[in-house]
Amino acid sequence: MIIGAGYVGLTTGLALAYVGHKVDVIEKNKEKLNKLKSKTSPIYEKGVQELIELVKDNINFWEKPDEVIKEAEIVIIAVGTPPKKNGEADLSYLEDAIRDILKKINLEKDYTLAIKSTVPIGTNNKIDNIIKEFYREKGIESKIHLASNPEFLREGMALYDTLYPDRIVIGSLSAKAISDLQELYKPILQQTFTPPSFINKPNAFNLPHLIITDPTSSEMIKYAANAFLALKISFINEIAGLCEKVGANIKDVARGIGTDKRIGISFLNAGIGWGGSCFPKDTLALLEFAKEIGYNMPIVSAAREVNQRARKAVIDKLKTYYGDLREKTIAVLGLAFKPGTDDVRESPALDIIKILLNEGAKVKACDPVALQNAKKAIGINEKINFFTNPYEAVEGVDAAIFATEWPEWANLDFVKLASKMRTRLFIDGRNFYEPEEVKKAGFTYMGVGR
Ligand SMILES: NC(=O)c1ccc[n+]([C@@H]2O[C@H](COP(=O)([O-])OP(=O)(O)OC[C@H]3O[C@@H](n4cnc5c(N)ncnc54)[C@H](O)[C@@H]3O)[C@@H](O)[C@H]2O)c1
Repeated sequence: MIIGAGYVGLTTGLALAYVGHKVDVIEKNKEKLNKLKSKTSPIYEKGVQELIELVKDNINFWEKPDEVIKEAEIVIIAVGTPPKKNGEADLSYLEDAIRDILKKINLEKDYTLAIKSTVPIGTNNKIDNIIKEFYREKGIESKIHLASNPEFLREGMALYDTLYPDRIVIGSLSAKAISDLQELYKPILQQTFTPPSFINKPNAFNLPHLIITDPTSSEMIKYAANAFLALKISFINEIAGLCEKVGANIKDVARGIGTDKRIGISFLNAGIGWGGSCFPKDTLALLEFAKEIGYNMPIVSAAREVNQRARKAVIDKLKTYYGDLREKTIAVLGLAFKPGTDDVRESPALDIIKILLNEGAKVKACDPVALQNAKKAIGINEKINFFTNPYEAVEGVDAAIFATEWPEWANLDFVKLASKMRTRLFIDGRNFYEPEEVKKAGFTYMGVGR
């Protein structure tokens, strides 16, 4: 049984159903639940819709755990842990989920409970104490075997990462929980399933690592991984800023350092910075946690600072061109925080839009799939219009900022774009295009660090 049918819970549920398990997914949001019950994906994620149809006999969706908890053997919690106002992770969804389970649990039966949500270091131990106390009050010994089982999937590649992960981490002090989870993930660990035709196994894929550790180290692995990836991007953005000052080309610099095996090329794309539902909240939660215990983490703080600067740098470029942005109309191409998802949580594009609006500009915002979520996040504002077609979005604008590298926009017709814009200024916030190609259409091209 899986609690929470978000990007993580739904993907995990579908992947486990695909490799042969019987899965019940609990989702309390009625709109999402109704969609799932009618075999429609509530999220935009490659392969999810196809898999929902393919595995329908192995998966069921419920509003509450009540009807299925008694039969369940393994319960995975994948509810959200968004940031509170003070930056700490909000654990109220997790606490509610645990309360829901305990209310209806079969006290005679053993369960393995895996916490997949990203939770602050020490949370698993606290949950363990709550559960033990619950059983103690009933005069019996706890039959819940707890494990931390963090998730590392990337939105936009969620199913791919779930079926072909680099590693699976299990942090537990319970031998039963470890062996249950090992068994659950066996088809993935040993790659014994036939890959779905629409989510191919990567070439030369090595079997995933299995990392078994204690719960605290497991929680730490998740935060450390996200903090490291975030700072890798911030590092290249910091170098990109320097490249601009001295006329170096960040693309060549990134290749030059990334081909060193000790460094690696991934996450060295300079741009407008990281966003999404994980890096911003997890780096913040890590800092908050460290602060609480009196530990300074200057590297993680700096990564966040550089990330904010990366967004502002785009606006600075516009300002060097225009001076004042009042009454200018700017197209923002791409609203999702990355391609392949409709998720706009902490999207750099939305931050840039906010700054543009504050500067008095009008915005034409464009995305192929994330408009609904973007409209919800931005709210009603007469100075912003929404589009799915980039050629319509740039009609009469004074500049276009390219914010999300959607593959379907890889071959934009720059001559056509140019013919629609009032001023041919193109700011490539993802270094996605060849500057010469863009310039050929008459544009002033500004990339990041080149
Ligand atoms: N999204 C990612 O890329 C990603 C990657 C790795 C880890 N994580 C972590 O995984 C967790 C989930 O992330 P997400 O992006 O899937 O979140 P999400 O917000 O997309 O989904 C969470 C879902 O849980 C549901 N829910 C909350 N409480 C519930 C309850 N008591 N019963 C039933 N359903 C409930 C919500 O309605 C929502 O649909 C977070 O802790 C996140 O940090 C996310």
